[in-house]
Amino acid sequence: MTPSTPTSAPEAMTTATPVGEPSTTTTLVHRPGGGAGEWWRDAVIYQIYPRSFADGSGDGIGDLPGITARLGHLARLGVDAVWLSPFYRSPQNDAGYDVADYRDVDPLFGTLDDFDAMLERAHRLRIRVIVDLVPNHTSSEHAWFRAALAAAPGSPERARYVFRDGRGPGGEEPPNNWTSVFGGAAWTRVTEPDGTPGQWYLHLFDTTQPDLDWTNPEVRDEFEQVLRFWLDRGVDGFRVDVAHGMVKAEGLPDWSGTSAMIDGAHEGELGSEDGSTGAGNRGPMWDQDGVHEIYRSWHRVLAEYDGDRCLVAEAWVEPLSRLARYVRPDEMHQAFNFSFLTTLWRADELRTVVTESLVANDVVGAPTTWVLSNHDVVRHASRLGLEVPGSKPNGIGAGDPQPDEEVGLRRARAASLMMLALPGSAYLYQGEELGLPEHTSLPDDERQDPTWWRSEHTERGRDGCRVPLPWEAQAPAYGFSPTGESWLSQPEAFGRYALDAQRGVAGSTYEVYRSALRLRREFRLGSGSLAWVDGLPNCAADTVVAFVNREILVLTNIGAAALRLPADLELVHASQDLPVADDGAVLVPTDTTVWARVGR
Ligand code: NOJ
Repeated sequence: MTPSTPTSAPEAMTTATPVGEPSTTTTLVHRPGGGAGEWWRDAVIYQIYPRSFADGSGDGIGDLPGITARLGHLARLGVDAVWLSPFYRSPQNDAGYDVADYRDVDPLFGTLDDFDAMLERAHRLRIRVIVDLVPNHTSSEHAWFRAALAAAPGSPERARYVFRDGRGPGGEEPPNNWTSVFGGAAWTRVTEPDGTPGQWYLHLFDTTQPDLDWTNPEVRDEFEQVLRFWLDRGVDGFRVDVAHGMVKAEGLPDWSGTSAMIDGAHEGELGSEDGSTGAGNRGPMWDQDGVHEIYRSWHRVLAEYDGDRCLVAEAWVEPLSRLARYVRPDEMHQAFNFSFLTTLWRADELRTVVTESLVANDVVGAPTTWVLSNHDVVRHASRLGLEVPGSKPNGIGAGDPQPDEEVGLRRARAASLMMLALPGSAYLYQGEELGLPEHTSLPDDERQDPTWWRSEHTERGRDGCRVPLPWEAQAPAYGFSPTGESWLSQPEAFGRYALDAQRGVAGSTYEVYRSALRLRREFRLGSGSLAWVDGLPNCAADTVVAFVNREILVLTNIGAAALRLPADLELVHASQDLPVADDGAVLVPTDTTVWARVGR
């Protein structure tokens, strides 16, 4: 794999271009192409959350044979790749993001042979496979951590993790004041093998997820071997969990900020007691410069393999110029663009984040990624139906303000069509192609996210976006499992969203996505360009997002009034049925995106 050459960001160029009307102007912010044509630059990548995708065994938990059996759905949808959340051996205290053995499949999900069969089937369908790598922490049931507990302070076994003596008389206070992303303290005290109260270990997440010490060469070596293990099996890349957290500031200094994952201050971004958030307020556990050397060494490992294998950073880092450092030519290949995901449903803010994303990544020659939903956030079909559309509660319960389902879905389809027309690589979260809402009335006693109990039942957490998928409206568990078992109960509304209720139905969310993916490929939008369009009739900048990518004008109407589509444009796709005015003009109603061909 040849690293691409960094390019400088294009100067914004404003030109008068006849898009619909002579008065329109376009401002170019991103040129077409770039890079060496690697597949991941413009790929649509579909996130599979294995425990909730499809259950082959009937125990109510999704598994690898279930995935293999349903891959045809993804081939028909037209995705280029899948990313699988963890399926490794794990006690499942954080749904598999607590890995006990990085080289084996948890029996819940199947076997290594099942993995190989799934990979082979995916490749036969021309779908690439990215797996999750969780290097910031292991499970407390990992052999290394068990050995660390059995060994003495100062031993090589303890040196793989972040063990420290406590503060205060008898070491009774934690070594510093850091808090866990899931709530509560980030330190747990151990009992030494001789029965005395002992050292403390660091866990930025749950108590059962001890942080590794990445200054230890043994840790670095082990993860290079893990990469090779999966690369040798044929995987096409890795999504790297908590990529901004692996190196901590020297001396582990106190920090008065809190690290929440989903609310206004995201994981690793940066709330503080003075209420400020965002850039320049980085905690000593996040986005330390030392992480980049790790990714340079991984880049070299991947480059030894054939094909374009890739590394994708899960890094909640702002500003975007800081995030772009993870995708410099000799580091990772992509980073999730959470700034886009967390932008409110406002035209000016969407324009700003899109521009800033493209400019920041163009500086380092990397593709920009786009994402609206994943297994850690309230589904965008529900976020966009909240009173402040796009706001980010940490889960929604029955007693909380409820999203408007119809409005949310309408906006979600509009947002997705905007996203799928942007140049770069787009990530879809399983079920969004069905328009699935969050389960907002999941009984609290079913919740499994550690956030729920670690926050002392103040944050509902992420179970509501992880509910098993509906495949067949009339089948038990909506076709998720052959027995009707389902590890979280599915809301009744899921019947309306089931795949078989939407397949072949013109205008269904599924068919809108499928057409979008086909047209995106046909018009090469993923490797295309972006120029903002201003001055379209009736299109106020604060309520309309309008851009041109290659020959396609993309227009999202966020304002209350319907717009008239300029007559000389040829409609290509729309997120909703479009009404027609008495004089024959096509109307673009509120919360709708259209794709139309220009310059013909
Ligand atoms: C980010 C993952 O996406 C999330 O699900 C997990 O809980 C944390 N990292 C800890 O691994």
